[in-house]
Amino acid sequence: MKSNQVITAIDIGTTKICVIIAVTTPENTLEVKGIGTTKSEGLSNGIVIDIVKASKSISDAIDEAEIMADRTAKNIFVGIAGEHVKSQNTLGRISLTSASEPCEITQDHIDNVINNAKNNIKIQQGNERLDIIHAIPQYYDIDGQTGIMNPLNMSGFNLSAYVHIVMADINTIRNITKCVELCNYKVRDIFLEPIASSFAVLNEVEKKLGAIIIDIGGGTTDIAVFYKDSIRFSGVLPMGGTNVTQDLSIGLHAAPQNAEEIKITVGNCIASTIPQDKLIEVEGIAGRESKQKKLRYISEIIEARMREILEGTYQMLNDHHNLKMITAGLTLTGGASLLKNCEFLAEEIYNMSTKIGYPYLDRLSGPTERLANPKFATSVGILYHAHSLISDRNDLISPVKYKDPFISIFKRLIANFKEYI
Ligand SMILES: Nc1ncnc2c1ncn2[C@@H]1O[C@H](COP(=O)(O)OP(=O)(O)OP(=O)(O)O)[C@@H](O)[C@H]1O
Ligand SMILES: [Mg+2]
Repeated sequence: MKSNQVITAIDIGTTKICVIIAVTTPENTLEVKGIGTTKSEGLSNGIVIDIVKASKSISDAIDEAEIMADRTAKNIFVGIAGEHVKSQNTLGRISLTSASEPCEITQDHIDNVINNAKNNIKIQQGNERLDIIHAIPQYYDIDGQTGIMNPLNMSGFNLSAYVHIVMADINTIRNITKCVELCNYKVRDIFLEPIASSFAVLNEVEKKLGAIIIDIGGGTTDIAVFYKDSIRFSGVLPMGGTNVTQDLSIGLHAAPQNAEEIKITVGNCIASTIPQDKLIEVEGIAGRESKQKKLRYISEIIEARMREILEGTYQMLNDHHNLKMITAGLTLTGGASLLKNCEFLAEEIYNMSTKIGYPYLDRLSGPTERLANPKFATSVGILYHAHSLISDRNDLISPVKYKDPFISIFKRLIANFKEYI
């Protein structure tokens, strides 16, 4: 691809908006030029609840990134999450030829078998108001021979594709797109947040051996499972670090900003590690008298909610996936993964080797120090994902008709994207 092309990643999180403006280099890497972060308003559990407030937050973050980058944000890629997201593995099947000789598989055949899988999903009851945002092939079968990763130029009579389909509520997608449009920008594509985050915190070996990523944000906890180089499961739990703060605020009778500070400075996910006699002073609400509270009690509140979140993800995964196949282990990321001992709590629940996922920044040049925090895994991942998509775009783009209801936003936007690069 051409160098000096601008790519902009926008992570519209429940607690913060992060915008990264980067440019492609002659070596086909990315150089970060500008970063903007603002507190997000008008969002709850990954969905827009006030379009005007949300777009003002996005606009402020874009402004900050543009000033630092000294260039305009272009080619904008956005993350999406929330309870409305539904993912499903499905099968697409086509016949390659009716002749007695096998047929050589072309890119059109591959596109057709994936479209067949998408159509099978779209006609299922309950999916009418969902739009497909990802259709990711896992592997293919040719005439019963299974586990084929790339069938291009192989020969056969019948082709099947196992495809991971991610769908999101049409209105939610439109509201997020609208927020960006109100800032006078156009969204090029939308990615599911855990898929984006996986580009920033999982490496190829982990994805091959089997890995789980759990991004614990403010309002959502996003999950994805990878095995044999492809995604096997994705899901979203509408709960995150904000719920921990709310619990503390209620349990300690403290203002939310004090509860947040207590959580970050002295919070702990494993209450039994805190001595019974340790106390801290908690400021009363709006001038009320301060009170001494047991640190152990504070950690019990935190542990209860973090257990609920992590056990919720475990339940979700265990219902869909054989966790014994996860050889590499679990990676926790997102801001709330920074809660002390979070990885040990997860390790206990999952009985699996766990690490905290800081975004890999080695593929980025420029002023990236600020991004070395799990809360930026999604924004860095959006950038990597967008870059790989654009680099491979000739393989990915197939001719599409704009009015076809089965077409994902992804295909429509990428088709238009050609004009800009
Ligand atoms: N050092 C820290 N220790 C504990 N918690 C932290 C720390 N830093 C951030 N958090 C928590 O992380 C959460 C925000 O994480 P993040 O920025 O990943 O969320 P988001 O992307 O805004 O939200 P979402 O992905 O749910 O839409 C908040 O609840 C915040 O309190
Ligand atoms: Mg997030």
